[in-house]
Amino acid sequence: MQTMLDPTQPQGTLSLQTIAMPADTNWSGDVFGGWLVSQMDLAGAIHSERISKGRCATISIHEMTFLVPVKVGDVITCYTDTIRIGNTSMQVHIEVWSKSPHREGTAKVTEGTFTFVALDENGQKRPISEDIKKIYAANGKA
Ligand SMILES: CC(C)(COP(=O)(O)OP(=O)(O)OC[C@H]1O[C@@H](n2cnc3c(N)ncnc32)[C@H](O)[C@@H]1OP(=O)(O)O)[C@@H](O)C(=O)NCCC(=O)NCCS
Repeated sequence: MQTMLDPTQPQGTLSLQTIAMPADTNWSGDVFGGWLVSQMDLAGAIHSERISKGRCATISIHEMTFLVPVKVGDVITCYTDTIRIGNTSMQVHIEVWSKSPHREGTAKVTEGTFTFVALDENGQKRPISEDIKKIYAANGKA
């Protein structure tokens, strides 16, 4: 049976939480989009390293749209979900939600799909274990 996803709620595992600081803003006081992408990259790395049980690198970032602005003091939370596990790569969907100290509730800021490649100690691609793939195939989660 297919589960209906609630668009007002974050989907995935909480992988990173931080606060937007003054150093993360441009001259007009708005938080840089690039800072958010870097938080997503960290969250995706935490997720893919947890799944593949080792070092990973980002190989691609798919299209993203920023839906609402982020202000200094907002609590930023990244939620991650595995979309696909390949031979050496993992596609991770990442949602970013913000909570302002001045507002009730949370808002989705952006989402995107990042691909990470498992690496060995020499920085070469590393096969993801068949056991991990079997667990993902059986549960939709690894
Ligand atoms: C990661 C790296 C070792 C991969 O080596 P490679 O020989 O280029 O690897 P491949 O082309 O065989 O691709 C490896 C996997 O990534 C996938 N991949 C490659 N390009 C992709 C893209 N643009 N989008 C999504 N997946 C991609 C491939 O399908 C493959 O997946 P699979 O093994 O699960 O089937 C190498 O590309 C690298 O070092 N890149 C730099 C990574 C990095 O430093 N990132 C941080 C940014 S500074």
